[in-house]
Amino acid sequence: MRNKVTKAIFPVAGLGTRFLPATKSVPKEIMTLVDRPLIQYAIDEARAAGIKEFIFVTSRGKGALEDYFDHSPQLENELRKKGKTDLLEILKTTNMDSGAIAYMRQHKALGLGHAVWCARRLIGNEPFAVILPDDVIAAEKPCLQQMVEAYEETGGNMVAAMEVPAAKASSYGVLDIKEDMGSMVSVNGMVEKPEPGTEPSNLAVIGRYILSPHVLKNLNKIKSGAGGEIQLTDAIAQEIGTERGVYGYRFRGQRFDCGSKSGFLQATVAFGLSRDDLRDDLHAYLTDLMATEKAAQ
Ligand code: G1P
Repeated sequence: MRNKVTKAIFPVAGLGTRFLPATKSVPKEIMTLVDRPLIQYAIDEARAAGIKEFIFVTSRGKGALEDYFDHSPQLENELRKKGKTDLLEILKTTNMDSGAIAYMRQHKALGLGHAVWCARRLIGNEPFAVILPDDVIAAEKPCLQQMVEAYEETGGNMVAAMEVPAAKASSYGVLDIKEDMGSMVSVNGMVEKPEPGTEPSNLAVIGRYILSPHVLKNLNKIKSGAGGEIQLTDAIAQEIGTERGVYGYRFRGQRFDCGSKSGFLQATVAFGLSRDDLRDDLHAYLTDLMATEKAAQ
């Protein structure tokens, strides 16, 4: 029997400089798509995949994140007094069971690999998931759940994967494919942020991982890689050729790069259109806007 994946790491220590000045006082992960902060989408996805322990790797100035998952007695009392049970229900999705959530500080911004390594003692000797909240994935079956199901068959190490245009490959970790089995590929190599033109394929790593605890041991020894940072990709690549191996999983769903302004706006529109209470208004507005633009051309 394979160990169940019950722990997930959420690296949330980044400064979010691309969203300054907003991120001067609001952590990037608290920025909202429609009415839910980015981090809520990540947590909901993890819950759907059976995750029970949520480990946040944070940094200075992320207090709003801790408060977000806490109870808010004053607000809850007010809503109760006013009989707003629907809003109380919505608030419940932000609460965590006691002991289910842990915060670990990354004291230096040394890269994603280092952030994951900071959580090593909380992971111990079990497989674990990593979710990068910047990558928001709209899917009928949540992406991590798809991966957990696939992982039950393969074990090893699994990264979410998606084809990207060759011109964009240098922004990602990129897979060197050994065998392509459709939704799954086995991997011969992985390169973090390859120089343009040197990418081994156009299959890029997206921010969902199911990893063996060996990756944490590899991180003990990893030297800084692309961009001078300790890269998770390099620690995973060391698993290639072991009995565990590395797989890429082509998930079903649409990924938004909410680490970029354009991706964030696209996600806002897409999630707005997917909501029954907003679709008609937003659709009418967008149709109008397009018509006006066309007329002006
Ligand atoms: C990180 C990973 C990279 C991955 C990407 C997906 O890069 O290091 O391998 O392809 O997330 O979003 P970042 O976007 O943090 O530079």
